[in-house]
Amino acid sequence: MYSRIAGTGSYLPEKVLTNRELEQMVDTSDEWIRTRTGIERRHIAAADETTSTMATEAARRALAAAGVTAADVDLVVVGTTTPDLVFPNVATMVSAALGIRDRPAIGLEAACSGFVYGLSIADKFVRLGDARCALVIGAETLTRIVDWTDRNTCVLFADGAGAVVLTPSPEPGIETTVIGADGQYRDLLYYPFGVSYGLDRLRGGEPAAIQMKGNEVFKVAVRTLAALVDETLAKTGLTTADVDWLVPHQANIRIIEAAARKLGMPMERVVVTVQDHGNTSAAAIPLALDTAIRDGRIRRGQRLLLETFGGGFTWGSALIRY
Ligand code: UT7
Repeated sequence: MYSRIAGTGSYLPEKVLTNRELEQMVDTSDEWIRTRTGIERRHIAAADETTSTMATEAARRALAAAGVTAADVDLVVVGTTTPDLVFPNVATMVSAALGIRDRPAIGLEAACSGFVYGLSIADKFVRLGDARCALVIGAETLTRIVDWTDRNTCVLFADGAGAVVLTPSPEPGIETTVIGADGQYRDLLYYPFGVSYGLDRLRGGEPAAIQMKGNEVFKVAVRTLAALVDETLAKTGLTTADVDWLVPHQANIRIIEAAARKLGMPMERVVVTVQDHGNTSAAAIPLALDTAIRDGRIRRGQRLLLETFGGGFTWGSALIRY
């Protein structure tokens, strides 16, 4: 038994912030942002929107696309770094909003890899027969945790949500997933405030905002993603020629291009949404996936390679027959 993607959905807040507008806020330029990152615009959550409200809307659209209802769902997994609250976890909030009761709701914290981690976990539930309809969501409200005076980070991060519905299938489906982590890199990308660290640590002077040594993250990301895609293909005995679409994490067009080059994958077969979405962390891959499915690029029967890398560091990939 395999799990397969029965439907996808996504949600982006209405408000769009352009590079030109950022030029008025910090010492940056549209040209620098476009050439160094590929980002042209990004979506910003409204005051009354949270990670769970965006996740719920993406989930509703995925359920509709899959032709199922919330009553069919027996597992909800939400990857996010920006939960509404420390607890209850965001997945319980999504379940409540959708009217799902008495079903497991897993909130999962793996930075940008949260969605792929969630996919890997839900896949096992479905394959083992423990779930017949799983909702896997990546959702973020990163603009609430960036320092809007720090040009190193505020031009990068953005908000949104994406979701997939997994159902059992005798045919793949998800062919394989690979997930990994290396905690020695914690200081290259992190958010300094946490519950058990306590408020005193925060008062020590660090701003409550995402901290990133971008250049160092960049180098490890490129190296790790190259090894990851090799491992993923080797696990299945497939080659680049067997893959129709690379659906990468959307952090930086230069990281995406480096991964595609390493794979020998022409950019025409790479889904790129970073120009419109910015870096939405755990939401980036399901947003890109849903965008390319709805605009007709990705079609049923095609093989997809998802790959991601983020804080921790964490990373993950999935080979999927859509
Ligand atoms: O989501 C998962 C993990 N995150 C990532 O994968 C992000 C990985 N990193 C990156 O994408 C890139 O490293 C960045 C986009 C963050 C930065 O690009 P870079 O080419 O690595 O630039 P840099 O950090 O080496 O900075 C180059 C210069 C610096 O100026 P000096 O020191 O050379 O004078 C920065 O101060 O660019 C400057 N700079 C900017 N200039 C204009 C940094 N941010 C900006 C900005 N506008 N917004």
